[in-house]
Amino acid sequence: MIYDDINISSLALEFFKENVENLSNYNTSNELLRKICGINNFFTSQNEATELLEKITEENSIVSEPFRREYGDFQTNENLALQVAEYTFLKRNDFEFVLEPTCGKGNFILASIKQSNSLKKIVGVEIYQPYVWETKFKILDYYLLNLNANKPEIDIIHGNVFEFDYNQLAESTSNLKTLVIGNPPWVTNSELGSIDSKNLPQKSNFKNHSGFEAITGKGNFDIGEYISLIMLKCFENHIGTFAFLIKNSVVKNLIQDQKRNNFKIRHSEKLNIDSKKEFNVSVNACLFLTNLNNEPDYTCEEFDFYSREYLTTFGWYRDKFVYSVKDYDISSIVDGKSIFTWRSGVKHDCSKVMEFERMNGHFINGLGEEFNLEKKLVFGLLKSSDLKTDKTNDYRKLTIITQKKIGQETNYIKDSLPLTYKYLSSQKDFFDKRKSSIYKGKPDFSIFGIGDYSFAKYKIAISGLYKSTHFTLVCPEDSKPIMLDDTCYFIGFKNIKMAEIAHFLVNSDLVQKFLKSIIFSDSKRSINKDTLMRIDFEKAYENFEFENAKDRISDLKIEHWEEFGDMIKVSVSDQMSIF
Ligand SMILES: C[S@@+](CC[C@H](N)C(=O)[O-])C[C@H]1O[C@@H](n2cnc3c(N)ncnc32)[C@H](O)[C@@H]1O
Repeated sequence: MIYDDINISSLALEFFKENVENLSNYNTSNELLRKICGINNFFTSQNEATELLEKITEENSIVSEPFRREYGDFQTNENLALQVAEYTFLKRNDFEFVLEPTCGKGNFILASIKQSNSLKKIVGVEIYQPYVWETKFKILDYYLLNLNANKPEIDIIHGNVFEFDYNQLAESTSNLKTLVIGNPPWVTNSELGSIDSKNLPQKSNFKNHSGFEAITGKGNFDIGEYISLIMLKCFENHIGTFAFLIKNSVVKNLIQDQKRNNFKIRHSEKLNIDSKKEFNVSVNACLFLTNLNNEPDYTCEEFDFYSREYLTTFGWYRDKFVYSVKDYDISSIVDGKSIFTWRSGVKHDCSKVMEFERMNGHFINGLGEEFNLEKKLVFGLLKSSDLKTDKTNDYRKLTIITQKKIGQETNYIKDSLPLTYKYLSSQKDFFDKRKSSIYKGKPDFSIFGIGDYSFAKYKIAISGLYKSTHFTLVCPEDSKPIMLDDTCYFIGFKNIKMAEIAHFLVNSDLVQKFLKSIIFSDSKRSINKDTLMRIDFEKAYENFEFENAKDRISDLKIEHWEEFGDMIKVSVSDQMSIF
């Protein structure tokens, strides 16, 4: 039942009813349809025409569509497709050839037809037959209402984007001003793997990795990225434009890889859309627009799609891949190597029993159990959400620090801390159930992310979970250091004044600008060790005078300032001694 789950407008149905005799010969029908709406081979067999003949005696059917996860099926609504086409044709209005490589229900094709009277050829490819029909009927509908509109030659092909010969299509259309427009599937190879889908490219040299590894080995790649690369490869020599709705992460990859790919693209634009509103999904996505057949460039301007507000220019600048060329230009002086080693906090993978609160003289854990412990191994613990203030020596949660360094024996707890041992032993099941292999074969109650550095009294800390680049100065409580959990990064100091100066430097406009210039705010875990290790403290320090710091740090003496200067001049190999 070819037409069972597709929408055919009443106008199109009416048209077929009036021309019912033609359906008994699909060639005659095709000829008529080509004249009316430009579509070649509307029916590819007599069977298709005959089934429609049966269908037109029924009423127009509207059937709910199955969610087609493996096809990354998020159809662009008519309004958005129209706005995208309008914007694209505003930039250049002499397109002759439009290609939609995964055309779905055809909203981009129709939006393009509406924009121009100079189109000569349109090709749409779609894997799902009901959408192929829906696109054809939609186009027919348009031309039935607009009999005198310009009619390009149109091919709506039921095919697989991974098998279709785009090279050949590119060759046969090389002299036409081209628009490659669309919205490729929103799905990643690993999602497809998890549902055992075959909707993947054949083994190929994806992103220059060899063979199968290229497709599945390099973690998680997006099918939309793969299709974008195929399009750019095939059509980079065409005069024209590439305009795709894709995830922000794909655009970032395209521009980052442009250094290697050197596609002939220039003046790229990224216009952020509200995907919740447009597609009811929580994925950051945008319209990516670039000019083909140009001297390659390596940056992209970012705007808001709706207001057209300019946001930033990101991409390759002075051999670095940055989020803001402008901010990087001002702050790149501090792009270097941190003299201090940024660490992540304590990891125990056992928060229900290893994180607890103090209540009326005893402790209460995540299971609501009350217990007592000796003070010795109990430390205050800060999590990412606690790092909102400029300075703190306060905490909500506490934890047990069972080891001073990774792998240290924990038998000593049994001998000298009976309450702590009793509590930990009573929770042994939780410790034993920890899945990560790092705990295998390690002493009971082992923790990770622990070393001398964890016991530094003063810490400069930042959350790795949030987007804020603000650093918090963490001071001890009654001279006992406060710990951070493994979602935070920090550097440690023995001396408050040294910590205060480091805190002043990392929160200075200069370092903040630098961090913002290299952090892609919508990538996951954008604040990480690699980013922080780029802060060159020596350069940041040289940029300020004692007087600048004195205004911000109470009781700061010139000796402190100089001591900090001397400390950061020690060679990088000595850095372990300063945590
Ligand atoms: C995100 S939807 C967008 C559809 C259309 N481009 C639009 O903007 O409305 C992706 C489309 O790709 C189609 N698709 C998925 N895998 C495909 C494949 N291997 N070959 C061709 N089309 C495919 C889906 O059926 C779906 O219609």
